[in-house]
Amino acid sequence: MRFDGRVAIVTGAGGGLGRQHALALARRGAKVMVNDLGGTLDGSGGTPSAALAVVEEIRAAGGEAIASGASVTDANAVQQMVEQTLQTWGRVDILINNAGILRDKSFAKMTLDDFRLVMEVHLMGAVHCTKAVWDTMRAQNYGRIVMTTSSSGLYGNFGQANYGAAKMALVGLMQTLSIEGAKHDIRVNCLAPTAATRMTENLMPETVLRLLQPETVTPGLLALVAEDAPNRAILCAGAGAFERAHITLTEGIFVGLPDDAPEQVAAGFEALSDRTNESVPNSGNAQGTLETGKAMRALG
Ligand code: NAI
Repeated sequence: MRFDGRVAIVTGAGGGLGRQHALALARRGAKVMVNDLGGTLDGSGGTPSAALAVVEEIRAAGGEAIASGASVTDANAVQQMVEQTLQTWGRVDILINNAGILRDKSFAKMTLDDFRLVMEVHLMGAVHCTKAVWDTMRAQNYGRIVMTTSSSGLYGNFGQANYGAAKMALVGLMQTLSIEGAKHDIRVNCLAPTAATRMTENLMPETVLRLLQPETVTPGLLALVAEDAPNRAILCAGAGAFERAHITLTEGIFVGLPDDAPEQVAAGFEALSDRTNESVPNSGNAQGTLETGKAMRALG
């Protein structure tokens, strides 16, 4: 797999997973815009030195890279970063939305500011970056975009209501953009990593962390942005293991509108949860189509 001639922007690439993604893309021929605010884990502060260090690493290995200290929360700064990339290399083929922070607390103790900031960095950060490259990718008829989601969003985690909501919002963003981008060969996918980084170093024992080196996730990222990448996949990756998550729809039941409809729904919960013949819909319309089809069959 090669990325010669391709231009990639990787956000939050000053450390952790983003750094590995940037180094791997550069090793395989991509020119890389290394973005990182250089702040602390909770999103405070900022220095471009983290991004610059990764640029130096790429250049030392014979690759091409430039740095940006833009915060993904700042739409104007993101626009300037994309313009700098276009001025330097003339195109943007790959966008890795990876920048992220944590403000973990149980929902009872979480302030609205902690909630908003996490949404702002993960969700709006990805929206700003994606919006800023979208027209270029449409004009090129080529684009590969990855949203970094999380098992916290897909399945939930104590103390991460803000983070989980933001990460699942990225899945929703991916679902629609993968449909809208398809005719311009813009493929949009999600990566749900598990890795030993500063984000997780206090959460897991040393023996587990040793298996979860961030570079073991990056092969999955590369597969999501290759020429023959899938579209609309949620790839889970950690410790060199890979899985795929799906948003599915069961076949369900038909109740109609009798007086005891609520009781029938409650009594039918097990039946409507039955996963036999479960599907992965191609778009949101599938739910309505399934439902009206069942109603028509039942009502004759
Ligand atoms: P990390 O903290 O090492 O990397 C995140 C990077 O994003 C940092 O270098 C930080 O400076 C940068 N950043 C933060 N706010 C920014 C902003 N406003 N603008 C630009 N850059 C900003 O953590 P890690 O683990 O490498 O996280 C990378 C991504 O993977 C994040 O989106 C995270 O939520 C996600 N993730 C990580 C998991 C893990 O197990 N490590 C699990 C699931 C998701």
